[in-house]
Amino acid sequence: MSSQRKILVTSALPYANGDIHIGHLLEYVQTDIWVRFQKSRGHQCIYVCADDTHGTPVMLRAQKEGKTPEDFIKESHQAHEQDFADCLIGFDNFHSTHSPESKELTQGIYLKLKENGHISSKTINQLFDPEKEMFLPDRFVKGTCPKCGSEDQYGDNCDACGATYSPTELKNPKSAVSGATPILKESEHFFFDLKGFEGFLREWLGADGHVQSEVQNKMNEWLDDLRQWDISRDAPYFGWEIPGEKGKYFYVWLDAPIGYMASFKNLCDKRDDLNFDDFWGKNSDAEVYHFIGKDIIYFHTLFWPSVLEGAGYRTPSAVWAHGFVTVNGQKMSKSKGTFIKARTYLNHFRPEFLRYYYAAKLSNRIDDFDLNLEDFVQRVNSDLVGKLVNIASRCAGFITKQFDGKLSDSIIEPELIKQFTDASEELAQHYENRDFGRAVKQIMTLADKANAYIANEEPWNLVKNDETKGRAHQVCSLGINMFKILTAYLAPVLPELAGKVQDFLRLDNLNWVSSQDVLTNYEINKFKPMMQRIDMKQVEAMIEDSKEDLEAEVKPEAQLDDPIKDEIQFGDFDKIDLRIAKIAKAEHVEGADKLLKLQLDLGNGVTKQVFAGIKAAYDPADLEGKLTVMVANLAPRKMKFGLSEGMVLAAGPGGKDLWIMNPDEGAQPGMRVK
Ligand code: 2FM
Ligand code: ZN
Repeated sequence: MSSQRKILVTSALPYANGDIHIGHLLEYVQTDIWVRFQKSRGHQCIYVCADDTHGTPVMLRAQKEGKTPEDFIKESHQAHEQDFADCLIGFDNFHSTHSPESKELTQGIYLKLKENGHISSKTINQLFDPEKEMFLPDRFVKGTCPKCGSEDQYGDNCDACGATYSPTELKNPKSAVSGATPILKESEHFFFDLKGFEGFLREWLGADGHVQSEVQNKMNEWLDDLRQWDISRDAPYFGWEIPGEKGKYFYVWLDAPIGYMASFKNLCDKRDDLNFDDFWGKNSDAEVYHFIGKDIIYFHTLFWPSVLEGAGYRTPSAVWAHGFVTVNGQKMSKSKGTFIKARTYLNHFRPEFLRYYYAAKLSNRIDDFDLNLEDFVQRVNSDLVGKLVNIASRCAGFITKQFDGKLSDSIIEPELIKQFTDASEELAQHYENRDFGRAVKQIMTLADKANAYIANEEPWNLVKNDETKGRAHQVCSLGINMFKILTAYLAPVLPELAGKVQDFLRLDNLNWVSSQDVLTNYEINKFKPMMQRIDMKQVEAMIEDSKEDLEAEVKPEAQLDDPIKDEIQFGDFDKIDLRIAKIAKAEHVEGADKLLKLQLDLGNGVTKQVFAGIKAAYDPADLEGKLTVMVANLAPRKMKFGLSEGMVLAAGPGGKDLWIMNPDEGAQPGMRVK
């Protein structure tokens, strides 16, 4: 094996204002498999990520939820972290772009770019919301398409005819934030001189391996048309202020990729064995790889390398893009229930099934990826349960019951096991090239061989006879060895299963190197079932839940001045026992400004004493003999003037305008109200 490599790997940073869904997961799973593979080979491979927290959408979303942006991003950070952990995405660090490291690095990079002459400023005209007093990003202006006349189109392009335009060209523009008609307003903006990096970029992109060949062609078109990049935004904006420019903030897309560095820096501060400059310094001999979606290639292959170059850092070893996920051949759709959140998926399936399906179909190209749900069920059942785990479940029982849990002294078919160990380097090549589909296919071909061998030998018959029992031992021991090697090859995809197999086989580790050890005269543990078959009913339930997710999200825009309290379930509500009560006695309470003391008759001789804050609205004499509605099962509370054993239901703004509930005639004390 080659000497130890130093590798830093990133996945695109998820926006803080959205849940992780199966579309995101393609990328995190792809990256995670690659990273686990490198670690398994013994390399130093560090995987970092962070939440992408800045920008107008996050700021407005937090406002809408009545939270500070800081509180809002903290909550989503927790949710993201949990989703990733449960999907077995093994980041070495999951940080945030709203962190001290990000601020320091972003401002530092900007100052270096400025010092090196790559920043300029000019005054531009932009749409401004006069009610909200903020400049509007393109996506926050809606109006009529200037080309085809379709209404309700975004400020940057038209969904109906596909035209792209500037928001100032929209007819009848409206602010999507307040509904106001935007006005044009001047503002000074800061620009990064991307055009000045044309020569550098042509060289960088031309060099082998920095981008995929499909991307290279696209980049060449873009290189003919480089423009200055606007990197500033005006207050109010959630982000980092530009040093020396009050009220001006860095555009989120400047600090987002710097988040890769910030997360790594944060990790370096926690670990003694890592040094920031070893990875990011101009003369670094480490490898740096960015896994991204095809929609953000421009940012990662033009802006990002240029910013790094301009600020004196090393540039990425490669940027690797993947395509979008479709479900059953179509764009993920909220209404069809195929916009599946990671959490919803996890409520129905274990993470390794999706990881396996993704791995089995992934290549290193940027084509879109179809998650066909029937195929998903079928592959999990046939490959993982029917082929892989089946090898162990067919052999392990005999080892435990007939051979004291011990594997045989020698390998009966050295040629067969050699085919398994010999596959190692070719499989490693496929993993290295992100050609996971090929690796999985080859591993499953080996699994077929193992199963065919066992089926042919029929150890279940061999054990029955003393003469052939020894052969059964040999066959099952070979089976367990083949299973072990295949699990090690699949461990980057199925880390949880690999952990279980490690326990089952009492191994200290199960990595690429140890996969080659053959176990003979060796004691193993009792086999426990490792994976169960799945079915389409579970898929259907997941789709239904995804539709419900959507319903839960469609909340009315309006907010009450006194906001509604946290949601309760019907079961909580059902606990409240509402009863008709007759006000048997009502009296003033000495020293109390607002309270009346009521004796409430619930019938059958049951009475409750309640202190009610209705003194300003009612004269005690008028209340006596009237029926009202009370919460009968409220735990008694000791008040200053005595014990209150329930609550009377009243409504109104308060003071004089407060009405206790009067039930219909015919109500009887003690009757349930619902
Ligand atoms: O497109 C996105 O989801 C961005 N949040 C990705 C940022 S990647 C990097 F540049 F930080
Ligand atoms: Zn149009």
